[in-house]
Amino acid sequence: MYNSKISGLGYYVPDNIVTNNDLSKIMDTTDEWIQERTGIKERRWIDPKTDDTTSTMAVKASKIAIERSGLKKNDIDFIIFATLSPDMYFPGGGVRVQDMLEMPTIGALDVRNQCSGFVYALSVADQFIKTGMYKNILVIGSENHSGGLDKSTRGRGVTVIFGDGAGAAVLSRCEQKGKGILSSHLYSEGKHARELMMDGPHTGRWIPEILKENDPNDESYYPYMNGPFVFKHAVTRFSEAIVDGLEANNLKSENIDVLIPHQANLRIAQFIQRKFKLSDDKVYNNIMNYGNTTAASIIIALTEAWEKGKIKENDLVVLAAFGAGFTWGSVIIRW
Ligand SMILES: CC(C)(COP(=O)(O)OP(=O)(O)OC[C@H]1O[C@@H](n2cnc3c(N)ncnc32)[C@H](O)[C@@H]1OP(=O)(O)O)[C@@H](O)C(=O)NCCC(=O)NCCS
Repeated sequence: MYNSKISGLGYYVPDNIVTNNDLSKIMDTTDEWIQERTGIKERRWIDPKTDDTTSTMAVKASKIAIERSGLKKNDIDFIIFATLSPDMYFPGGGVRVQDMLEMPTIGALDVRNQCSGFVYALSVADQFIKTGMYKNILVIGSENHSGGLDKSTRGRGVTVIFGDGAGAAVLSRCEQKGKGILSSHLYSEGKHARELMMDGPHTGRWIPEILKENDPNDESYYPYMNGPFVFKHAVTRFSEAIVDGLEANNLKSENIDVLIPHQANLRIAQFIQRKFKLSDDKVYNNIMNYGNTTAASIIIALTEAWEKGKIKENDLVVLAAFGAGFTWGSVIIRW
């Protein structure tokens, strides 16, 4: 069996900055409320006048990751694309990247695991490399949330939290023992699916029916979140996934050099930091600047932390995520 290691990282966020004060002009909210509850100061939302979409942002991030890996795009054997907001209802984003990057006819797989999407995608990529099937896999997380949010006061509990952006990693075969991805741990609990979801349209209530009903109060095509319920589960599940990952490798929380939590809420990340007694320099957060970018959040944060020199050779890096489904998980990496 081979190991896999991250050989290249890249991210891209739209130029358009939307501050909390900007939001307070279109809905009943305040900078104070948003910062106090979530830690978010601003986020990026695609300016519809630009060419940014979930896939084009993914392409921009991927080009950087491939270049930094020292590989050529034709060296990539497979694409895994995590998103809940593909450009089209189907097909998914992976094939769009294969086309836009003018890659050979390699396989492309989409992962629909929302905020845990990147952790799931990285784990799938790791398995393909471990078995020897592929040598280099492009793993992407990208989201265009702004196109589908309710920007009226009705949607404020969700809309203020989410931002747009993309990140990409190249995962490559590594023959050094004890390096790269040490393990990944994935979980789900579908009984809570309706606590964080977008209900429609779906095959039981398709677009012609929605149009026929013509209900101006129909919220089914906007994301719904039971915030306090999600918060409560997130803090527990984040911690469990980290503990499981550490225990599987005979490690302790003191061994963590860098924790990259999914950027759901700064308060959740701070809770985890306190629980594991990690100093500020060991936890990387950027939700202040980007909000929650769902499948892109961990890979954008990982790339930024690496660019800032916060991740060094041999560091123990822990990725942990929780989100809709519910799904959650962790990936333990020896850098
Ligand atoms: C969403 C979240 C920030 C809301 O914070 P909260 O303290 O739980 O707030 P609540 O939802 O209980 O709402 C409290 C009040 O604030 C109001 N409110 C909600 N959004 C608001 C906003 N943007 N601005 C101002 N007031 C707002 C609510 O209407 C409610 O008012 P009421 O008491 O008069 O009914 C918090 O629950 C959270 O972060 N949950 C987890 C989110 C998460 O992790 N999501 C992603 C998982 S991947």
